[in-house]
Formats: sequence, structure tokens, C-alpha cells
Amino acid sequence: MDIIRALKNAGTDPISGEKLGQRLGISRTMVWKYIKALGEEGYVIKSSPGSGHVLVSAPDKLYPSEIMDGLDTSIIGGDIRYFDEVDSTNDVAKKMGPLSDEGSVVIAEMQDSGRGRKGGHWVSPRGGVWMSVILKPNVVPAYAPRFTLMAGVAVARAIREFGIEASLKWPNDVLVGDKKVCGILTELDAETDQINFVVIGMGINVNVSIEDLSEDIRSSSTSLSEIKGEELDRIAFVQALLRALEDEYVRSKTLGFDSILEEWRSLSSTIGRDVDVVTPQRMISGKAVGITENGTLLVETAEGLEEIVAGSCIHR
Ligand code: BTN
Repeated sequence: MDIIRALKNAGTDPISGEKLGQRLGISRTMVWKYIKALGEEGYVIKSSPGSGHVLVSAPDKLYPSEIMDGLDTSIIGGDIRYFDEVDSTNDVAKKMGPLSDEGSVVIAEMQDSGRGRKGGHWVSPRGGVWMSVILKPNVVPAYAPRFTLMAGVAVARAIREFGIEASLKWPNDVLVGDKKVCGILTELDAETDQINFVVIGMGINVNVSIEDLSEDIRSSSTSLSEIKGEELDRIAFVQALLRALEDEYVRSKTLGFDSILEEWRSLSSTIGRDVDVVTPQRMISGKAVGITENGTLLVETAEGLEEIVAGSCIHR
């Protein structure tokens, strides 16, 4: 939205309708209509007949125009679909996938049927960042877990940019301290030997109040605003996340997945920890000592080294 950019650039200096019109190549009447429409979207614009318009405040909304303003990525975020309320951003992304460009993003203020791992429900109230990114990598389906690890690294890096010590818990949680702040759900559209596209769904409790989470997860969850004691700029957060994701994606393609794994290990609070991992078959207890390039966890147990493909991990 160029009118917003023009108003932002002007800061506290009023710009006349005439000037805005000239800059955007539209009539003063059109400028006035836009200003009115922006007001309805929650932008507060002070308009004085003599001097012109000043942007007083922008709404706390994840509008694509705001996210794209100043976003310097080249793959991720070229197309951003916004929903005030949606069932699940992953479901929308899966439908869009075949016809959309790589790097397309679906983002929502709230989800009614947010989905978590293992068919679980993901509570997605207002204030969070509920987002799915479509990637079209030229790799075999067996590599899918790599995208979860890669996204975890990107989320942890973005959170750290805001001065919060985020860490990674195998396989797909981002923690602050020992509490979960983000979950990642990667879904695939694939043939047996080729991925058509990957949907990486990331749910981050940014400005979420703990009371808005369901009772069963309250004691094990936190939000960035809870940690900081104040709300974060969600637009700046989403931009940081999209940049970090692109950075990791490009790195994985140029330097290989090992370089992502290295970062994952260094950001991980699982490695080096005594863990109980509940797998569909049994529980494995021991010390987490590593992660493999397939995303499997290596646990040193009393019986020897175990490689765990999937499971829920408890840090003891
Ligand atoms: C988990 O169980 O930890 C994964 C949660 C993933 C939640 C995100 S929110 C955005 C995207 N849309 C969904 O329905 N789920 C993912």
C-alpha cells in the first residue's frame, strides 16, 4: 500500500491530499477514499484541512503490505495471503500449493482448527503468529524432517533477535527455558520419489496471554510477551522469521544440510540432556548425544546407542 509508505516516510510532517495524489498518480478524491478505507482497517490518520494527513498509528495486524514493506527476501514472502480468521493456515497452504510460487506464505490472526502434531489441536488465539510457508525443494520425501529442523533453527534465531534465549527441543519444539513457545508442523505433498511441495506450519506464541491457552498446556507453555513483560512488534518478528527461514533454506542448498544440523545442535537444549523418549512402541531413557542428517535422535542408553526416528521427548 503505497499511501501508507508515503505517510510513513513523511513521519510527523503532514502531507497534503494533493501531494499524495501526485505521488501515487491518483485524484484527490481517490486519496480521500483510501484514507477513509485505511481508517476502517484500523490505521489512525490525522487529517487537517489546511495542512494534510499524518499517520498516527498502524493497527496491530499482520497485513501483507506491512510485512512486505522493507522485507528484503527473494524467495520467501513474495506472495503473502492474509486471513483474520481461518481454520488452519496449513490447510489453506496445502490447497494453494500446486499453483503457488515457492516461498508463498499464509498467515492468520487466529485459527479455529489449528492442527498440531499427531492429529492434536493447536490453540491459536489472537496475538500469535500462525503461519505456513510453501517450499518446492527438489529432494526425496525422506528428507522431509529436515525442513522441520531447518524451520526450528529459523524460529529460534528470529526469537533470539528479540533478546530472548530460545532453544530447540527434538523433534520440533522451540522452547524458552523449559516452556514451549512454538510448534512446527511440516506436511508434504509428494510422489514416492519426489516432493511436489512442503508446507511448513509454524505457530508462535508471540503476544499471547497464557490465559488464552487451554488449561492442559498452560503450565508447559509460554509466550514471548510473557517473557519480555511487554508486547513485541509482530510485523518485525514475522520479517525476522521470513529472513531467517530464507537464509537457512539458501544455506541448506549451497552449503548442504550439515551446516543446518550444526546450527540445530548448537541451539538445541536436548543434546547433552537426560531424556525420556516415548515412541509408539516403548519408552527409551538415556542421554541425548546427537542428531543425524535424517533428523533422528541418538540416545545413549544402558543397553547402548539407540537411534530414534519419532517420538515425544521429555527433558528430565
Ligand atoms: C505442534 O504440535 O507442536 C505443531 C503445531 C503447529 C501449529 C502451526 S500454526 C500454523 C500452522 N497451521 C496449523 O494448523 N498448524 C501449524
